[in-house]
Amino acid sequence: MMLDIRDLSVVFTDRGAPFAAVDRFSLQMDRGEIVGIVGESGSGKSMTAHALMGLIRRSEVEVSGSAVFEGTDLLSLSREELRRYQGRDLSIIFQEPMTSLNPTMRVGAQVEESLRIHERLSRGERKARALEAMALAGLPEPEAVYRQWPHQLSGGMRQRAMIASALVLRPRLLIADEPTTALDVTIQAQILETLKDINRREGVAILFISHDLGVVRALCGRVVVMRQGKIVESGPVDSVFYHPREDYTKLLISSRPSRKKLRGGREDG
Ligand SMILES: Nc1ncnc2c1ncn2[C@@H]1O[C@H](COP(=O)(O)OP(=O)(O)OP(=O)(O)O)[C@@H](O)[C@H]1O
Ligand SMILES: [Mg+2]
Repeated sequence: MMLDIRDLSVVFTDRGAPFAAVDRFSLQMDRGEIVGIVGESGSGKSMTAHALMGLIRRSEVEVSGSAVFEGTDLLSLSREELRRYQGRDLSIIFQEPMTSLNPTMRVGAQVEESLRIHERLSRGERKARALEAMALAGLPEPEAVYRQWPHQLSGGMRQRAMIASALVLRPRLLIADEPTTALDVTIQAQILETLKDINRREGVAILFISHDLGVVRALCGRVVVMRQGKIVESGPVDSVFYHPREDYTKLLISSRPSRKKLRGGREDG
C-alpha cells in the first residue's frame, strides 16, 4: 500500500467552539491508483489535501490521526523532514492556478524551481528535465513555452504549466485539487486525458479532488464522498455514480448541470 490515511482530523480552535473541517477521514491507496474525493463546497476536501501535504501547521489548527506514505507517517514528520517529501515524493496542484504561478517569472524557471531546491543539476540538465515534464503535461512546443511569461498562456496552458511543475521531481503521488474547475469543458476534458496519460505512463498515483462526480467518474477508479468533513459514502466510481446509497450523493449527481452557472462562464481563451 502506498498511502494509508487513518482518522485524519483537522480541527479549528480559533472560533469559539472547535470546528472539525475534516472529521476522522480514512483512505487507503495503492501505487498507481487514481482515487477521487467529491463533496460540496466546504466539505473539507482541500483541508484533507493540505493536511497531507503538511500545509496547515498552525497553532490554532489541530491535525490528528495518521497518514502513512510508503512507511512514513507524514503527520509525525518535522517541518524540515516534511520539506524533503513535498514536491519530490508527493506533489500538489492547487485549486487556484492563476494565483499559483508567479507573474514575474518565466514559465520554464517556475517549472524548474523545485529542481533547484531538491536536486543538484547543471543548468542544461535542469532545462532538459523541465522540458520533459512540460511535454508530459501536454504543453505544445515546450521549448517556446519555456521562455514565455504566465500571462502569455491561456488558462488551460497555465494549468498544464502547474502540472509540469508538480511532476518535475517525478513524484509517486500527485494530489490534484480541483485542477480543472476554472476551465471550460473542452479544456477540462483534455486535461483529464493528460492526467490519465501521466498515470498510465509514469505510474503516478493521483488523488483527485472535485465537487463534480461526473468529472471524477471520467478519471478515477474509486471515489469517496465527503460531507461536513466526513466520508458519507465510498466505493468503485461506477457503483457510487449509478447506485448511490446516500441522498447527498444523489444530490451531487443531479446538481451537476447547475454548476457552470454558479461558477460563471468560460475563462479559457
Ligand atoms: N481558518 C479557518 N477557521 C475555521 N474554519 C475554516 C478555516 N479555514 C477553512 N475553514 C472551514 O473548513 C471547511 C472545509 O474547507 P475546505 O476548503 O476544505 O472545503 P472544500 O471541500 O475544499 O470546498 P471547495 O469545494 O469550496 O473548495 C469549510 O467549512 C471552511 O469554512
Ligand atoms: Mg477546496
